[in-house]
Formats: sequence, C-alpha cells, structure tokens
Amino acid sequence: MTPDTSRPEIRIEGLHKSFGDNEVLRGIDLEIGQGEVVCVIGPSGSGKSTLLRCVNLLEEPTGGKVFVGGTELTDPDVDIDAVRRRIGMVFQQFNLFPHLTVTENLTLPQRRVLKRDKAQAARVAAENLERVGLTEKADAYPASLSGGQQQRVAIARALSMGPEVMLFDEPTSALDPELVGDVLAVMRMLAREGMTMMVVTHEMSFAREVADRVVFMDGGVVVEEGTPDRVIGDPAHERTRHFLSRLLNPAMAQVEESAD
Ligand SMILES: Nc1ncnc2c1ncn2[C@@H]1O[C@H](COP(=O)(O)OP(=O)(O)O)[C@@H](O)[C@H]1O
Ligand SMILES: [Mg+2]
Repeated sequence: MTPDTSRPEIRIEGLHKSFGDNEVLRGIDLEIGQGEVVCVIGPSGSGKSTLLRCVNLLEEPTGGKVFVGGTELTDPDVDIDAVRRRIGMVFQQFNLFPHLTVTENLTLPQRRVLKRDKAQAARVAAENLERVGLTEKADAYPASLSGGQQQRVAIARALSMGPEVMLFDEPTSALDPELVGDVLAVMRMLAREGMTMMVVTHEMSFAREVADRVVFMDGGVVVEEGTPDRVIGDPAHERTRHFLSRLLNPAMAQVEESAD
C-alpha cells in the first residue's frame, strides 16, 4: 500500500529529553505519514528507545511536541490514556503474563482498558491470533512457546487494542536467529496492510525490504534520513558509514576496538 505522507500520522517537533543533566534527545523533528513504515537505526545509546517511549508518553519529553493523528500528546490537558490506546508498542522483551494463557493475555487488556465484554474480547483475540499464525496456541501458557511465538503473541496483544500506529523497539533482538524470520513476516504483513509503523531495528535486510524510509540517529539527533537504498546503500555521512560497517562486519569492529 502506498503511504499517504501528505497526512502525518505521527509528527515530532523539536523533541528534547534529558535525564538529569544527560541530554538524550537533542531536538528531533520527524513526520511519519499514514501507512508509512519508518525504520530507526543507530548505535546503542543514541536515544532510539527514548524516542519511541516519548511517542507514547512512557517518557515525558523535556521539550518539543508530539502529535498522533492530529492530537497533541504533549498538551497538558490531553487524555493520555485515550491517546495511548491508539498506539501499540512491542518491546524486545515480550512482557506476557506467565500465569495467563495466550488468549487471557490478549483479552485482559481489552477488558480492563477498553471495557469490552468477555465474548467480544475473545473474538478479537482469536482474530488476531489467526493473523499471527498462532490459533493453535490459544490455550497454551507463554512458557511453553518459543521466543518467536511469544513475540507474535505480544504483537497480537497490541493489535487486539485496535491501534492506529505500531511502535516496535528491537522486536527480534532477544530471539534466536532461526526465530527472527517468523516475527519479521508478521511485521511485513502489517506493513502491507497499511499499518503506520515506527520500527527500531538492526535488521538491515528487513529495513531495506519493508521500510519506506530509514532514519539514522546518533547522539540524540537525526543524522540523516531517506529511502533505505539511499541511507543503507549509499550513506551521506561518515557516522552512518561507520555504524553500518560495524553492523555488517562485527569482526572488523572488534579489530578496530582492540586497536583503539
Ligand atoms: N529512564 C532512564 N533514566 C536515565 N537515563 C536513561 C533512561 N533511559 C535511557 N537513559 C539514557 O539515555 C541514553 C539513550 O538510551 P536509549 O534511548 O535506550 O538508547 P538506544 O535505544 O538508542 O540504545 C543512554 O545514555 C541511557 O543511559
Ligand atoms: Mg534501545
């Protein structure tokens, strides 16, 4: 689906975030159109997670504005809970409740937050388990699932809340390599269906294939952004080149580090 970049679904203006005197985000401006998939890449500590967490107000920005679907999240009068419901978030750690079945993990937040009745919540849960290919695990407990299956359950849980936007923070980083593909396949499906997505990832082949745009962050600023072919294939900045060469060739990075 072609994204509609004329209508920004997420708009970030002059975003700053400090923890004490550590300024982690130093003025981020970013717009993400409806149905657009933006991959955020950058070295560890560059502020990628903080940026995502500011977009759903898990962190309170120190300065600047964030809009989702035209509503200003940073307006002090906004109903934060109402806005947050429109934003699904998937973390590196799946955060499923171990004592609840897969279905119960999906129905609980719908019932608590959206006040859906049991039957309706169960129906939505079943639909979303089917979308991520885990219908047969409906009554299983998380511990009996692989990491990849648990992450797909976490995605189905987020989707069950009916979000307009999905934020992913390194969703495959905790997975064994052979389980990464199934999670990326679900994310690819969401992208095709036209979900607006902001994805922090180190999976460059996924970014090249699925992203409409890649944003490279370093030191709390956006260093460059553009199409995946441009940013990953032909980076304009030395910092981007350095990051990509270390990522694509970790052995080289080790040689460099021992020479430092
Ligand atoms: N809750 C917090 N309290 C204090 N410092 C934090 C907190 N969260 C993140 N930081 C700091 O912000 C910086 C950026 O972190 P983060 O956004 O997690 O980077 P990335 O996701 O790119 O690795 C780091 O220096 C980190 O220590
Ligand atoms: Mg992070």
